[in-house]
This record gives sequence, structure tokens and C-alpha cells, in this order.
Amino acid sequence: GAGRAQEAALSADDFKLLDTFEGHELTKSDRLFAAKDYRSAGAAYEAFLIQYPKSKATAYAVLRKGRCLHLGNKRFEAIKAYTEVLDYFPNAINYAGAALYYIGACHSENGNLEDAIPMADKEAARRGFITVAKTIPMGSTQLWTRVNSLDSPWFLDDMIEIVTKAGDKFDVIMIPKVEGPEDIHYVDRLLAQLEARAGLKKPILLHAILETARGVANVEEICGASPRMQGISLGPADLAANRRMKTTRVGGGHPDYIVRQDPTGDDYQGARATYQQDLWHYTMARMVDACVMHGVLPFYGPFGDIKDVVACEDQFRNAYLLGCVGAWSLHPVQIDIAKKVFSPRPQDVAQAQRVIDAMGDGTGAIMLDGKMEDDASVKQCKVVVELARQLAARDPHLAGLYGF
Ligand code: GLV
Ligand code: MG
Repeated sequence: GAGRAQEAALSADDFKLLDTFEGHELTKSDRLFAAKDYRSAGAAYEAFLIQYPKSKATAYAVLRKGRCLHLGNKRFEAIKAYTEVLDYFPNAINYAGAALYYIGACHSENGNLEDAIPMADKEAARRGFITVAKTIPMGSTQLWTRVNSLDSPWFLDDMIEIVTKAGDKFDVIMIPKVEGPEDIHYVDRLLAQLEARAGLKKPILLHAILETARGVANVEEICGASPRMQGISLGPADLAANRRMKTTRVGGGHPDYIVRQDPTGDDYQGARATYQQDLWHYTMARMVDACVMHGVLPFYGPFGDIKDVVACEDQFRNAYLLGCVGAWSLHPVQIDIAKKVFSPRPQDVAQAQRVIDAMGDGTGAIMLDGKMEDDASVKQCKVVVELARQLAARDPHLAGLYGF
């Protein structure tokens, strides 16, 4: 729907780039928006855009103009404003990501066709995705779609429609509830036939969502089932249900999943510290190993508690530390979290570079700040620096932070 509890906001970094008058005008507009006076707020953002055509906050103001139209039920005009954000500011990833998300909301869909799309809207969602894929220029950003599962009545038409009508406009198809390599073999063959029919030149890639116990048990074979395999995501909601885990949360921890400190003597009832444990550790680690074995990218999936941005960040960071390259965003606030977590901190990149430099040709062992560094630690450091370089190549702001 159009209304959301949390809105994509101007980042503190971006606000610092504005001069006093701009900042003041924008704050005034934001206040009207916060007061839900969307008509006046829309006019205020519009006035801002006219008065400060070169502002560093243009992408944000256009996005907000779209929000005012959208929330005022002018969906068609809202889509135009969102599209403008994507067209002119594809690298302002926060605002462009939010714009894409809101376009999805306008069409009552986004790239997702599976769960979260009501049964009655399945076909509209499919049509909406095809329209978005064909009309929105994505620049260097990939477009993915999640089709319905193989055991659903929509899967076959999802594939036929999206591949033959927009197969050259998106990169990755996410297959939910993959159980074993046979699922991927089937989709691989079907895709080959549809790609041939559509005359496509570039193969469409596959991303399997790990959300059944059988899928987890077969994850190595799933990763190796086709050269199209691009990635795997952990789907904690369906997986919990399928395994009969007793959490009703979408990802994250659970206060009852703990270890407890030993008692003092026989005082079993006395105060004893407890430590919450990670419900997803085993699955995540197993998924990462299977992915690395086959050169496939591991992702953490959804985190359902949109308000709990702190725990979301923890969940994402655990995934990052264990080797995942990204996570899903269910809401624009989670895009910021993912960007922050999955880009190494500048001080970590600098320290990694320091070790690499100090190690010369990379062999042997040295002491640096009282720590032993050798061939293996150089490799660890290279993981961090190489990731930073890849990210910096797409993001000038990050390149600046890393000093590349
Ligand atoms: C994702 O689809 C999940 O089930 O967690
Ligand atoms: Mg699911």
C-alpha cells in the first residue's frame, strides 16, 4: 500500500552537504510531510526543486515529491516522480532503491511475485513486473524477480510471461522453496527453451531460496546443479515453519534460545547470566560453505521487524562476518542498514592494507602491533581490501571514504 510507517529520509551525510538556506527550506518541507499535510509538503518540495536546481538533495526532494503524490493517491504522477529519481540519480542508491520500492507499491507489486502477493493479485503482479522491467532504466543495477514456487499453479505462467516478454530486461530469477538439484535442472531446461523462443542472447541466472529442511540438506547439490546458479538466500520464515522450529519471527534471534551460566554450588534457583544464541548459525554457515564450493554468492534473506533496526543490523552483520555478500531489504530503511553492514568499515580496510603493505611479497611471518601476521592473514586482509575496491568502483562516496 501507499502508507508506510517509516519513510526513506535524507541521510545526515547528505544534509551536511546543503547550505544553510537549502537546509532550512528542506527542513520546512519535511515538517509539513511529517505532519501528513501532503498537499503543502508536495508544493514545498516542488518549490525547493525550483529554487535550488543544483542542490545535493535533489534526488531526495524528487523522491519526497513522489511520496506526496502517492500518499495523496495520485499514483500515476507519483510513478513519474519515482521514475525521475531512477533516471537521473541511479547512483543515489538509497533514494533510487526507495523509488523502485515505491513504484512497486504503486503497481501493487514489485519484483516479487510469490508470498506477500495475495492470490487475487498474482497476475496483476506479473504484469506489473513486466511493465516495470520494460520501462524503468536500471543502469548498472541488476533487476531480480522472485517467481512463485515450482509446486504452485502460477510458476509456469510466471516463467513463460516474464521470460518471453521481458527476458532481456532482468538478470536473475529467484526460485523459492528449492528442495534439491532436480528443481534447478528443471528450471534450467525450461529457461533454455524459453530463452531460445524469445531469442535472448544473455543467459538468465538463477538464485535459489533455501527455505525447507530438504533444501538445506541438499544445499551442496543445489549450488552445483547448473552453471546458471548465481546465488542462494536463506529464507528463515518458511524454513522455520518447515522444520517445525517454534519461532514465529521472520529471522533474527529468539529470547528463549539461550545458554545459561553454571549455578553457584547447589544454588540452582539463584541469579545466573543467560546468553542468547543465534538460531541461524548452522544454516548460514552450511549455506556459505556450499556456495563457496561452487562459486555461488550467499545472501541472508528477510528480517521482518522493520522497527527493530538495531537487531536487523546485528543479523545482517552476522551474515556479513560469516561470508554472505548481502541481504534482502523488506523496506527502504533496511537498504541503508545493508549498505552500511556489507561495505567494510574504512578503518578495517586501512588496517588490512597496512598488513598487506607490511608483509611485502606476502610470504613469511612478521609481528605488527603485537600480532602475528603471515601468508594466511594476508589472504584474509585481501578479502577485505578487494571487496572495498569492488564496492568503491560503483560508489564514489565509498571510494572517498576508503581513500582510493
Ligand atoms: C523468505 O521467503 C522466507 O520464507 O523467509
Ligand atoms: Mg519464503
